[in-house]
Amino acid sequence: MEGIKLCIVLFGLFLIKNINADFIVETTLGKIAGVEVKSILKDEKYYSFMGIPYAKPPVGDLRFLAPQLHEGWKDVLETKKERKPCSQMNLPMRTIKRYGFSGQDDCLTLSIYTPKLPSNEDLNLPVIVHINSEVLKISHNASRDYGPDFIVKEDVILVSIHHRIGSLGFLAFNDEKLPGNNGIRDVIMALNWLKQNVDKFGGDPNRVTLMGVGGGAALVELLLRSKKAKGLFSNAILQSGTAMNPVYMPLNPKEKASALAKILEKSAVTSDNLLAELSHVSSIDIVTHESLSVDADEAGKKQVATLPFGPVVEPEHPDAIVTSLPEDGPIDIDVPVMIGYNSRESIEMNERFLRKPQYLTFADRDFLMVFPIRVDYHFELNSKAYFSAIDEIKEFYFDEGYVKVSKPGEHLTYTADLLVFYPIDYALRKYVNESTSPIYYYTFDYSGELNMRKNELLKDALTIEGTWGAASRDELCYLFVCKPIRKLYKKVLEDEDSEELKVIKNMVKLWTNFAKSGNPTPEGSDFTWTPATKENKDCLVISEELQMKQNLHGDRIKFWDDFIAKYRAKAVDGVIKDLKDEL
Ligand SMILES: *[C@@H]1O[C@H](CO)[C@@H](O)[C@H](O)[C@H]1NC(C)=O
Ligand SMILES: *[C@@H]1O[C@H](CO)[C@@H](O)[C@H](O)[C@H]1NC(C)=O
Repeated sequence: MEGIKLCIVLFGLFLIKNINADFIVETTLGKIAGVEVKSILKDEKYYSFMGIPYAKPPVGDLRFLAPQLHEGWKDVLETKKERKPCSQMNLPMRTIKRYGFSGQDDCLTLSIYTPKLPSNEDLNLPVIVHINSEVLKISHNASRDYGPDFIVKEDVILVSIHHRIGSLGFLAFNDEKLPGNNGIRDVIMALNWLKQNVDKFGGDPNRVTLMGVGGGAALVELLLRSKKAKGLFSNAILQSGTAMNPVYMPLNPKEKASALAKILEKSAVTSDNLLAELSHVSSIDIVTHESLSVDADEAGKKQVATLPFGPVVEPEHPDAIVTSLPEDGPIDIDVPVMIGYNSRESIEMNERFLRKPQYLTFADRDFLMVFPIRVDYHFELNSKAYFSAIDEIKEFYFDEGYVKVSKPGEHLTYTADLLVFYPIDYALRKYVNESTSPIYYYTFDYSGELNMRKNELLKDALTIEGTWGAASRDELCYLFVCKPIRKLYKKVLEDEDSEELKVIKNMVKLWTNFAKSGNPTPEGSDFTWTPATKENKDCLVISEELQMKQNLHGDRIKFWDDFIAKYRAKAVDGVIKDLKDEL
């Protein structure tokens, strides 16, 4: 009896000591001290090392340059707090309360959350690297936004990387001095750092799964196709984004760089003077003027909507990372890929129509006409052919051929197909055609208490017609602990019969098993997520239950396949104009 008591007392002391102790890991750059963190899951904990620098701060003369190796440090570096992400401007059109400038320029850091630290043994835990840059303009605040609690519980290490975004990450001038894609180079440098160091945190450097969401997924896809990233990861997950989507790869990057300089009253004749002029302007000035660098008519004229700054095809040079558009090859994909989308991705972009449905009359009049993938032609604006193509689309998507105020759901379907679903399905078909490894396709269709984005967006909606399913990024709150709604998790976790808990368990199992073995279905499971094939696009529908379906929305895919092919045949020198005899 006495013995047991003593034991408990000693054990208690031991715990307290450990909580106050530093957890020190020696990396190739120097020692760092992390913290032990209590998980939201009962009696669970993990270790966090946050804001570990992996490159020199890209400030002053280093701004707009490829990342440079960090020189390291002598003392123990405290890595107990999240650091700010890279400088960015939250889009003014979104309802998320905080908008405007945030972040800082000295931002090239990564964070590691591990369930265990090695003492003498090799733990060899699989690693998921989460790259989360919404449209490559907004990033996240790592674990301050998305807690790793569920992932680490499965004995998987989670890593998040801050990389440069917007013009600070993607300014390009089409020459060797300023080839663009530094935001991607940052990620490659971070992955190289992990390769050398992740074992010291219990990780297996040969089992790294790269996971990207939105713009982050486009970035992962470019890495998947880049020779410069070979061997740095062994699986890839693309959530709700693909570089096949024209949005992520801007047209005419050089013009945009010059336009940005001009707005800032600097000249930019050559990349040298652009670099010299812009290296010392405040990043707030740069970031807040970015969106003005796009010619407002560009999207309409060419029927492509793109970001002002994003990944580009670089001129040939030895350090080039992206040497061709993803659809043009090279075809050399040998890692398993998971790719998918949420069932109602467009709830956010249609928010104003859900609040004020009468605005849908404007959506009908100024109809959004852009191509869902890059094509090598466009319509002459306001030609008869242009309007007849619009009519064809409206006939297909809208009851009686026009956008009705009473049916916002139709507009939701149309915009989601155009901007998310068709590009992703197209990317999936490319992968199935080209890859030597299995490709797993999913759609996240669950709507519950933890769909943070959707529930927030619909708070002030006047109509919810057509808003079933999951909005963009809703799936993240079933993989991570979304901090703004942390309280809701307590309730969900306490109720064993909760549907939300079931969805969390399913998602986390599939994602972490994919990280462990390259196959999302755990061994001995009574359910199998089969890979997609050319004949059957097997797709896992994730809702309260898991269900395999084939060739989802085949009619909508066929509509766009046929539409794109039909008009391509009519284009002359890349333009569709009215023929004389039609006038
Ligand atoms: C990150 O946190 C900072 C300050 O806490 C905030 O200003 C910023 O908007 C956050 N970023 C995002 C993308 O939520
Ligand atoms: C996939 O390959 C088939 C022929 O095997 C081809 O018809 C189809 O266009 C390809 N799909 C894509 C998206 O490249």
